[in-house]
Amino acid sequence: MKKRIVLLPGDGVGQEVVQSAREVLDAIAEQFDHEFSYQACDIGGAAVDCSGTPFPAETEDACHQADAILLGAVGGPKWDQNPSHLRPEKGLLQLRKSLGLFANLRPIKGFSQLLHASPLKEEVVGGSDLLIVRELTGGLYFGTPSEISKDRESVVDTLAYQRMEIERIVEKAFQSARLRRKHLTSVDKANVLESSKLWREVVEEKKAEYPDVTVEHQLVDSAAMKLITNPTQFDVIVTENMFGDILSDEASVLTGSLGMLPSASVRTDGVGLYEPVHGSAPDIAGKGVANPIAMILSTAMMLRHSFQMDEEACAVEEAVQEVLNFGYHTADLHIKGGEQVNTKEMTRHVVEGISSRNVSES
Ligand code: NAD
Ligand code: IPM
Ligand code: MN
Repeated sequence: MKKRIVLLPGDGVGQEVVQSAREVLDAIAEQFDHEFSYQACDIGGAAVDCSGTPFPAETEDACHQADAILLGAVGGPKWDQNPSHLRPEKGLLQLRKSLGLFANLRPIKGFSQLLHASPLKEEVVGGSDLLIVRELTGGLYFGTPSEISKDRESVVDTLAYQRMEIERIVEKAFQSARLRRKHLTSVDKANVLESSKLWREVVEEKKAEYPDVTVEHQLVDSAAMKLITNPTQFDVIVTENMFGDILSDEASVLTGSLGMLPSASVRTDGVGLYEPVHGSAPDIAGKGVANPIAMILSTAMMLRHSFQMDEEACAVEEAVQEVLNFGYHTADLHIKGGEQVNTKEMTRHVVEGISSRNVSES
């Protein structure tokens, strides 16, 4: 059956990497005899410029009707001084909220060829393979009040959670751990924050339902340190929205580049938004040099999670692996030897990898 995919390129390198995703999907469609329909919509700064809002109603409607959504990135210096409701980032937050995508899954697994691309020692990053399960529709990002006083002398943001919001993300994390190495680290700031105390309480309650999963609590400050000094101790990390945002960019260092990290933003049914962890990268936008792998691997996550196309997802992941084996890499990956390529070339190599699979493989 035809799958309806909404494409939200957004801003900066988002435009470039979503094009890569589309080419990869075309190769998958061809190779596995699927039909994908694409509808491109505006979001973020591009939407502010065209429609005066970062999340136009037509985009929202299209997303609600889609089988899955691919998003590039939003934001950029052009809109940085806009009032909050006209900031590109607001469009992405509204999209996540509108679709109820409360769980953001950020897998971090180093490719062996890229071990030396990390500024960390190879023996530290070797073997790291973790999943950050980030709460995505609550916490500091959505709490009210969130405002500055008229005289700009005081300001407030609110970190609020309903018990139910904590329960569902913790359940998602336990379920994810069950499918992996069965170890869950819950990261909080329970030595200071009330929200973290309830978070910890919920994790403790839920663990009775998952006796096969070992559970550990860590405070976010030391967890940030352990993530880059002893990353192999982690399997699944579950954490509040903002902690998860920060820790995942930090964890990208294990892979050699932020341009490598994919993510899936999901709810309990199959609908999902697939987005690289990185942003619009204004410093390299428009130059055609962005690393498309985070976006391409997000596309693989879409195939697997929203369409149950496991073989197809593996085909994408294997093609990426193969391209790296050949030594092809974009400029953000500081690796010795190999050949430096641009976004289009990298995409072409991945597409060729998919297309050259012989029928018996697929
Ligand atoms: P960023 O992730 O855009 O860039 C951080 C650094 O990583 C930059 O040096 C950039 O060149 C590099 N980088 C990121 N993606 C890359 C890729 N695919 N290939 C090669 N290098 C890559 O973070 P920032 O500079 O702090 O933010 C820029 C804008 O992006 C801001 O407006 C921010 O709000 C927005 N942002 C959006 C998202 C999103 O849409 N999901 C995520 C993060 C940041
Ligand atoms: C991310 C981004 C977003 C977030 C911004 C752009 C709102 O940093 O997806 O990680 O903080 O969630
Ligand atoms: Mn982020």
